[in-house]
Amino acid sequence: MMDHFVIEGGIPLSGTIACSGAKNSALPLMAAALLTEGVTVLNNIPDLQDIRTMAMVLRVIGADVRFDNGRLTIDCSHCNFWEAPYELVRKMRASFYVLGPLIARFRQAKVSLPGGCALGPRPVDLHLKAMEQLGCDISIEDGYAIATVEKLIGTHIHLDIPSVGATGNIMMTASLAEGKTVIDNAACEPDIVDLADMLKAMGANIEGAGTRYVEINGVKGLHPVEWTVIPDRIEAGTYLIAAAATSGTLTLTHCRTDHIGALLNKLGKTGVDVDSNLDSVSIDATDRKLKALDITTEVYPGFPTDLQAPWTVMMCMAVGDSIIKETIYPERFTHVQELLRLGTRITKKLNSICIEGVDRLKGASIMCSDIRAGAAMVVAGLVADGQSKILRIYHMDRGYEGMEEKLSSLGANIRRVSE
Ligand code: UD1
Repeated sequence: MMDHFVIEGGIPLSGTIACSGAKNSALPLMAAALLTEGVTVLNNIPDLQDIRTMAMVLRVIGADVRFDNGRLTIDCSHCNFWEAPYELVRKMRASFYVLGPLIARFRQAKVSLPGGCALGPRPVDLHLKAMEQLGCDISIEDGYAIATVEKLIGTHIHLDIPSVGATGNIMMTASLAEGKTVIDNAACEPDIVDLADMLKAMGANIEGAGTRYVEINGVKGLHPVEWTVIPDRIEAGTYLIAAAATSGTLTLTHCRTDHIGALLNKLGKTGVDVDSNLDSVSIDATDRKLKALDITTEVYPGFPTDLQAPWTVMMCMAVGDSIIKETIYPERFTHVQELLRLGTRITKKLNSICIEGVDRLKGASIMCSDIRAGAAMVVAGLVADGQSKILRIYHMDRGYEGMEEKLSSLGANIRRVSE
């Protein structure tokens, strides 16, 4: 069954919504539950397809996973299998987060390699190289990474790129290795800090998470904890951009504005009024034309690549030309061809796009190619005059909890149609 959204666009958003828990934090925290032989409880978990996929990965490994109204209970007392199958990993790359915990717990792991992705090449070489440095033998067979190790020994790991996934996997494995591990050029994303904080509550010894240099002193064992996932900064950013692009207003509650500083700063420079406290923010973009503004995607705390596609739509509605440079995934522009169908003016050159602002977009049928490109399609539908049909919204169900309910409560005319 393939649902689609029908949106009657051109209505400025207005109102208040609460942020959901962060998908990209929840997924590694779920994997971290494998590091204990007990019951981990995670709160503020968004009801999303990616969470269900990770739950399936954990069940294959032998965990008992229950989800009840934002509360996830993961019992890893009887885990007895160390594989993550292709059927699940191909649906969601973040399944690769079980590699580190499986190695730490079973001294072996067999995890499918994720394969291709709509964002362009997304290798896992840094994860595998780091596991080798910690003492693992790694081989690739039938599309699977197979790891075995007798004794995990702490070491110095320099990441060529500050990969979020590799940093998370290393922290989880090194927590149960012998001695000290150093990650230099580590990722600093809030999801990494959330993971480190939960691991510390479980008994791990980690210092420096959130900086480029992380030190992990291995411990003998970890114990299960109850933990609350941080708010989703990408969801927050998406709705703020949607409100600005429709010349609307929005108040977001239950968010962490310190996690979206780069976006709030850029929004202010386009002429949007921004009024923020630590856990809530209000913006007002009514009765004005937005100014065109260039952005470059960067690792945290820079402008996030996951908001690049929705930002593109907002810049289509701005006065003047702007350039978006993508430094994290140079080929992450699948949204551009779809947006052209609405009358946008965008040209692509290497890892950049140039956007010429237009007065109006006209609704059409457009397709989602990944979660964030999909978010751009929804924002475009909200902005465009007339009706838009957003196809392949299973991508939205992977990453945006209750999207149509949240948007409807802000006055949008959006409905889901099941085919
Ligand atoms: C995470 C996010 C994703 C976001 C991305 C960048 C999750 C579940 N997903 O993905 O939404 O877009 O961070 O902020 O949290 N790389 C390598 N080799 C590796 C690993 C990564 O070359 O072994 C490269 C990637 O191709 C990419 C860059 O490093 O160019 C950053 O990727 P990474 O930070 O690992 O992203 P993910 O953790 O996969």
